[in-house]
Amino acid sequence: MDYTWIEITVAAIFLTAIVTAVLSRGAGWLSWHLWRNAMLVSSVVMTGILLWLSWDTVNRVRPGAGRIPPWTVINHEIGLKWDPERRWQVPVIGEETGFFGKIYTPEEAKALVNKGKITFQSRNCMECHTLLGNGAYYAPDLTRAWLDPWWESRIMPMVGAETREEAMKRWLMNPPQYPQGQRIMPNLGLTDEEATALVAFLKWMSAIDTNGFPPHFGMMTPR
Ligand code: HEC
Repeated sequence: MDYTWIEITVAAIFLTAIVTAVLSRGAGWLSWHLWRNAMLVSSVVMTGILLWLSWDTVNRVRPGAGRIPPWTVINHEIGLKWDPERRWQVPVIGEETGFFGKIYTPEEAKALVNKGKITFQSRNCMECHTLLGNGAYYAPDLTRAWLDPWWESRIMPMVGAETREEAMKRWLMNPPQYPQGQRIMPNLGLTDEEATALVAFLKWMSAIDTNGFPPHFGMMTPR
């Protein structure tokens, strides 16, 4: 269900007023019974709303719910489509094409993406990059890195890879060998397994519906 803060506020005030009025039947406008009840009822109502909103948020940020893709999205093609109604780009999940030539089960996919996340943390990638806008601004935001057209146009031929995941993996394992811009990413000593997991993590991340973040991704500057 979708709701706005205005609806929640109006509902909270309405509910508090009605329950208070019922509990304080016969009490005068200035009687302390009425105001004590109002205080107690509003506290209970707001606690209820807080619990409900927390529960609702936890459910919305769970992989597979709403805007967060399930772990198995790594088996699928992912694209971005302009949504004229929301006026930003939304991810579209396409056909099941596999990942490194394999279809991952939900458990395997979960383990791999989580290993990617741990690897991301272990190398402190956020010292230079941002994810969902969080981190440092030395190097590009990685939220949609998987969808960057340069993997196909430049990196695949450069590293001699047949697929995007292979290109990304080989590049991540030795960025200084294939520099693209003015700033060079250091070699972080990733193992084959760690690089595979990082690619899975970044692919999964690229399928999150981020309300259009980063804006105009891939639409302005062809590299
Ligand atoms: C010391 C800073 C630094 C660290 C730490 C770092 N990077 Fe980078 N990264 C860069 C720079 C600079 C570039 C741009 C490289 C170029 O253009 O050749 C880059 C580029 C990238 C790209 C290509 C981005 C795109 O949009 O195509 C990816 C993917 C990437 N980094 C992933 C990672 C991951 C994963 C980690 C952690 C394991 C990491 N980086 C850690 C500096 C860093």
